[in-house]
Amino acid sequence: MSNTPRKILVTSALPYANGSIHLGHLLEHIQTDIWTRFQRMRGHQCFSVCADDAHGTPVMLKAQELGITPEQMVEQTRAEHHQDLLDFHVVYDNYYVTHSEENKQLCEEIYTRLNNAGYISKRTINQLFDPEKNMFLPDRFIKGTCPSCGAEDQNGDSCDVCSSTYSPTEVINPRSVVSGATPILKDSEHYFFDLPKFEAMLKDWLVSGALQEEIANKLQEWFEAGLQQWDISRDAPYFGFEIPGAPNKFFYVWVDAPVGYMASFKNYCNQHDIDFDSFWNADSDAELYHFIGKDITYFHCLFWPAILEGAGLRKPTGVNVHGFVTVNGAKMSKSSGTFIKGRTYLNHLNPEYLRYYFASKLSDGVTDIDLSFEDFAQKVNSDLVGKVVNIASRCAGFITKRFDGKLSSNIIDPELVAEFQQASETVATHFEKRQYNRAIREIMALADKANQFIDTQAPWVTIKEESKQQLTHDVCSLGINLFRILVVYLKPVLPKLAEQSEAFLNDSLEWQSAQNVLTNHEINKFKALMQRVDMDKINAIIEDSKESLGEPKKDKAKEKSTKKSPKKSGTPLEQDPIGETVSFDDFAKVDLRIAKIAKAEHVEGADKLLKLQLDLGGDTKQVFAGIKSAYQPEQLEGKLTVMVANLAPRKMRFGLSEGMVLAAGPGGDELWILEPHEGAQPGMKVK
Ligand code: MSP
Ligand code: ZN
Repeated sequence: MSNTPRKILVTSALPYANGSIHLGHLLEHIQTDIWTRFQRMRGHQCFSVCADDAHGTPVMLKAQELGITPEQMVEQTRAEHHQDLLDFHVVYDNYYVTHSEENKQLCEEIYTRLNNAGYISKRTINQLFDPEKNMFLPDRFIKGTCPSCGAEDQNGDSCDVCSSTYSPTEVINPRSVVSGATPILKDSEHYFFDLPKFEAMLKDWLVSGALQEEIANKLQEWFEAGLQQWDISRDAPYFGFEIPGAPNKFFYVWVDAPVGYMASFKNYCNQHDIDFDSFWNADSDAELYHFIGKDITYFHCLFWPAILEGAGLRKPTGVNVHGFVTVNGAKMSKSSGTFIKGRTYLNHLNPEYLRYYFASKLSDGVTDIDLSFEDFAQKVNSDLVGKVVNIASRCAGFITKRFDGKLSSNIIDPELVAEFQQASETVATHFEKRQYNRAIREIMALADKANQFIDTQAPWVTIKEESKQQLTHDVCSLGINLFRILVVYLKPVLPKLAEQSEAFLNDSLEWQSAQNVLTNHEINKFKALMQRVDMDKINAIIEDSKESLGEPKKDKAKEKSTKKSPKKSGTPLEQDPIGETVSFDDFAKVDLRIAKIAKAEHVEGADKLLKLQLDLGGDTKQVFAGIKSAYQPEQLEGKLTVMVANLAPRKMRFGLSEGMVLAAGPGGDELWILEPHEGAQPGMKVK
């Protein structure tokens, strides 16, 4: 057993201060909270901090929209986020905000060190500028026609249709998402952080054990693609911290956000007389872990360790990356009611159900985690209510009513107790490695054994026989003790249930408590510890989360805006609203035809496109369709579909595209081509 107390600091990614906490965020906070509680139960010194991520263009614009100052908005959101988390029993030592004095000072200090060490350079860049709003536009705030395939209404940095990436200055007919104005090009001096200088250090760090294998591989790819100078400045107006010695230039939000981990901790240390530096100095003896989602790996595994190293500080011991939450097998979506806010869930269901469910699914991998409501209800009802709580409720009544509320002095099945106790280190190892799913499986296997023991002994039968009173007392007492050991193991996951059980058991539980047994011990009256999940409640949550179709998705650009990282993220997509109306005459111009996919093949160098030969009953057209992530070419050959036959041909990088096939879905592997009903023939007009 590892008994030397460790000194640990953990963080969760800082939620943006312009939206609510949702079930995706909660996966991360619950993962972190379980780990923190576990470490503390084991007797280690473990601090946890988080904060709201206050800065950046989206927050600034949202505050403007609401007619309040960004400071006001951020403070309101911070308080709301903090309360949401507390109500899920997610407790940080400090839940702060990045717009703080501590953060400002730390950012300035770190920047000055980087600058003095020669890691900062200046260069003038040419950027799109909104002449109406008088501001430079981040890529996601520009829309326009794709320079590569001509698709309209594409993002400023990438095209969803042909998947090419480009610079916002290449976009055809660009417009500002903020004002609708046509952006102009404007020069501006920017500050760059010399990331490539840290390549060797990062390569060492990569093999230090700080990263999961999948993430280490990802980093390898990034090295192969070549590290770039990182633009760390933004022009006014920007809600952020001004760069020292650079009037009207602000730190890009992704600079001060991770420093915000330090600032939140510093604020805590100042109030509690803790030695902040001993956690952050290069020779620190403390462990540092960041829990994050896979979409922000680049920032935490490249920029952040490089900044820390460059500033003479310690690097993380581990960056723990998790996958994304999907609901009922699909990305969370507002229109289907699966984009669920923490508060909406809390209005209907016990937070511990979700903690338990996520724990039962979480591993140390980065695969996405599906919240299937059926599975959720089934697991909670059968494991927690049907197995764990059931042990106590079957035994407690007899102890209270027939044995003066006192547990027996005799341990009737020491072997069974020993088996429960011996599981302690296995379960602990699973928690330590963030393999919560394995911990839960182990605990539930024990719960099954406890129930089997009670079933076999049938105290409800023996209680009626005068000669078997001692036996009944021993059996029920053992049942309570087995329950108690299970609660010890579940305490990091279910702190509330543990607290209520402690009151019932008249005991307080630490990890070590599993090694002793309560004999001759008075317990309190048992009260129901947990109710079954009611499907009606789940349906009510979905109902409350639904947003009507067609509602303009104003926030979309904003939610995505700060997420630009070199890889595509799994950011939940909303359902597309119904678009602008078109006149019937305009619609009638579109010539839709049934087409037979005569041939489908991969296109070398294209990661989203398939090349299709479409048979129109005589005429053949070649179309490049962005459906590669959803279909294998051989699945398509011979199928009928619907195409726009009179679309002006477009020259693409890979050849001429003479039309478009119709498909539905949010994108990626969730895309379905339209297929006509039986009887339709190639070439038929679609009316
Ligand atoms: N503000 C940045 C983080 C800065 S950390 C120095 C940010 N904020 S966020 O609100 O968009 O996301 C916060 C965390 O929630 C991230 O770790 C992100 O991966 C995670 N998740 C957001 N949506 C998620 C799911 N649907 N599923 C799981 N985690 C998700 O990024
Ligand atoms: Zn394109």
